[in-house]
Amino acid sequence: MTENSTNQPANSRFDGQVALITGSGKGMGRSHAETLAARGARIVVQDVDRAAAEETADSLRAAGGDPILAIADVSDVGAFAEAIRAVEAAAGRIDILVNNAGIAGGSPAMEEIDEANYDRMFDVHVKGAFFATKAVLPGMKARGGGKIVNIASVAAMGAVGSRAHYCAAKGAVLAMTKSWALEFAPWKINVNCVSPGWVMTPMVHAVTTAEWRKTHIDAEIPLGRYAEPWEVSALVAFLCSAEADFITGQTVSPNGGQVIVGI
Ligand SMILES: NC(=O)c1ccc[n+]([C@@H]2O[C@H](COP(=O)([O-])OP(=O)(O)OC[C@H]3O[C@@H](n4cnc5c(N)ncnc54)[C@H](O)[C@@H]3O)[C@@H](O)[C@H]2O)c1
Repeated sequence: MTENSTNQPANSRFDGQVALITGSGKGMGRSHAETLAARGARIVVQDVDRAAAEETADSLRAAGGDPILAIADVSDVGAFAEAIRAVEAAAGRIDILVNNAGIAGGSPAMEEIDEANYDRMFDVHVKGAFFATKAVLPGMKARGGGKIVNIASVAAMGAVGSRAHYCAAKGAVLAMTKSWALEFAPWKINVNCVSPGWVMTPMVHAVTTAEWRKTHIDAEIPLGRYAEPWEVSALVAFLCSAEADFITGQTVSPNGGQVIVGI
């Protein structure tokens, strides 16, 4: 206990704040949206899939929220920036950006990855996060604060013997996190990265079988299971909150012990 411990300004609520979560139509993005909304944020549901985004928005409205839709491909820089301008006109601000939109791309060997696969992987994960961040930055700088959370993967931390294009794209997300943390610190904009292990989402269902998951969990995950989306969302919410005001440039990996790295 310090003598200032009763004066802590931090809290984990987002009342009055607007949170833009890319890829929040499904999976972890939807879970992040529901978690931040439950803590008071107004959510911008951003996705390329309009039907999925509408489902998330319906779920948020059913819980009493007032979400805004922003339908665009994150890698379409012009369309995305236009969507952000419309959101800022409607909501007046964007306080939180979660760069979550992503694609799996299977587990191809090097010989199977062609130029189009490679480009798409980098377009969605790297170009998408890069220009989404660029689009929200002027508003955050003008208000003198903001929180950005990038979503990477254990695939960029431990070694994975396939899908090198996915690993490389997520590696770039780790690197952008550190660079942005330094560059944006003077404006009190915190930039951190959540780098999950395996999480049960539509993406994982699409690329694995139950039998494969059982073998994989037994062989590789000390805590003996995959994560549930809410467990990642709780970490994202913490990093977006005032409780994390002194944390920037860090990567935290909820992965059940699959990859353990020291500082
Ligand atoms: N599920 C896992 O085990 C796992 C592990 C580590 C990291 N991740 C990462 O977490 C993030 C979310 O993964 P998930 O499992 O929830 O995936 P998911 O497939 O369940 O959901 C991804 C969402 O992103 C949207 N999206 C895809 N491309 C887009 C684009 N170009 N523009 C806008 N929206 C787009 C999809 O429509 C979908 O709604 C991704 O970045 C993924 O790489 C997932």
